[in-house]
Formats: sequence, structure tokens, C-alpha cells
Amino acid sequence: MEVIILPTAEEASEVATRLVSRQIREKPDSVLGLATGGTPKRLYEMLVRMHREEGLDLGRATTFNLDEYVGLGPDHPASYHRFMVKYLFSHVNLTRERIHIPDGLAADVPAHCAAYEQSIREAGGIDLQILGLGSDGHLGFNEPGSSLASRTRIKTLTERTRNDNARYFGEGEEVPHHVITMGLATIAASRMCLLLAFGKAKAEAVAASVEGPVTASVPGSLLQFHPRTKVLLDTEAAALLTRADYYQWVYNNKPAWQTDL
Ligand code: GLP
Repeated sequence: MEVIILPTAEEASEVATRLVSRQIREKPDSVLGLATGGTPKRLYEMLVRMHREEGLDLGRATTFNLDEYVGLGPDHPASYHRFMVKYLFSHVNLTRERIHIPDGLAADVPAHCAAYEQSIREAGGIDLQILGLGSDGHLGFNEPGSSLASRTRIKTLTERTRNDNARYFGEGEEVPHHVITMGLATIAASRMCLLLAFGKAKAEAVAASVEGPVTASVPGSLLQFHPRTKVLLDTEAAALLTRADYYQWVYNNKPAWQTDL
């Protein structure tokens, strides 16, 4: 796990954008795992700018989103499908048939989840998985207690997550209780993970994920077992890390051949 701490979310998003765009340039048919939420918005905006101004070509890439609310269709304003269209899909040249998002309206949820896993396998697995972090340490919608061996399935949200996400819903509108999410083992099978966390509301979850014990009670801690994970933080999200100085020293003193950012 490489922990990279930048002064601001903007600078951390720039590094994330360099990593993602390099992945796409080096392997145009990359399979990308995508996250929603406030955290990756700037990353998507920067990728859109690179597509428009620097010819970043997503035409051969395949995408799989982490999660979706059960009961919300693609046109619901708070659906993750709608989020992705708004912030990324409608602005770049991804091929419609290679975009995958769990279907919140699936009639047979277990069958849909199994098919989602099968599609990931058929695409050759995920090359680069972008991740945010819930304030309770969740990845995707794998709430604390999720099996570290879990695959795409239905989950029930905690009240904390429902409250955290209420801001994306209309006044008086109920946040769904159920979601479909890639599992923790699905995420762990990605060849590279990029975890982004910004702001002081994430500091506890970051410290528990990066420096706490690996436990299903903190899903983010699963990444300690992942061989190629970069954690991109702003100073506020890194505030409770006990080895922050060391991570910064490592980042600033890499051997020349390793300075890939
Ligand atoms: C949401 C999503 C996660 C996201 C997290 C953080 O519930 N399911 O994929 O990473 O919570 O959201 P935000 O980036 O808005 O803080």
C-alpha cells in the first residue's frame, strides 16, 4: 500500500487523474472500476478535460461501476447511473456496450449479481479500480461486517450511510435501504486499486483502514492485503495517521526510476 498525502483534494485529484489517464494511454482497452460520490468528481472532470483537450481516448475502455441503489432506475436523479452520465459518460467517448452499472431495477437480484460478476470475468478482470471511502470505512457499499470474501450482491445500508448520502436525495425523499454492490473479494481481485479520501470526515476511516488491523469491521482495511494499492489523501483525511511523516518522506524521496507521477 502506497500512501500519498497532498496538501489539497485538488492536488490529490490531479495525481489520480495522471494515474488513470496513464493506465488508459498504456492500455487503451483497460477495464476500469468506477466509483461515485463527491470524492471522485474532480477526477472525472479532469479526465473529461483531458479527453477534450489532449485527446484522451476512452473508446476501447470497459467500465464497471461499484454499486447502485435498489429501486432506483437510471433516470432517478440520485441514482449512480445518473451520476455517471452527468459527470463522465455524457462527456467522453466510452462505448455504450462496454459501460456496466448494477441495475437497481433488476427483477432477479441474485441472478443479476451473478451475471455482473460473469461480465467482469469475461472482460478479463478489472485493471484499475477507483475507490472512495465511506465515513464508516465502507468500500463500494460494503458496510462494516461485510465478508472479506464477498462478491457482487445485495446489501443493507447502515443508518449512518443513509444519513451521509441523504444530501443527494430530494427534500423528504427516502434514501433506499438496499443496494447492489461489488463485493470485497471482487474489489480485491482488481489488478490495481486507487483509494481516494478527502476531508476531515474521512480521517478516522482512513486511519482505521491504513493503520488498523485488517478486519471485516473496517472494509477499507482489506486493501492492506492488496498488492498494488495507492491511497491518495489530502492533509485533512490523513490527519490521524501515525506514520504520515514517513509516507511523505517515502513519496518525496523515491528513486528516480520509481517517480512515475
Ligand atoms: C458512497 C458510495 C461509495 C463512496 C462513499 C463516499 O456511499 N457507495 O462508493 O466511496 O460513499 O462518498 P463521498 O465520496 O460522497 O464521500
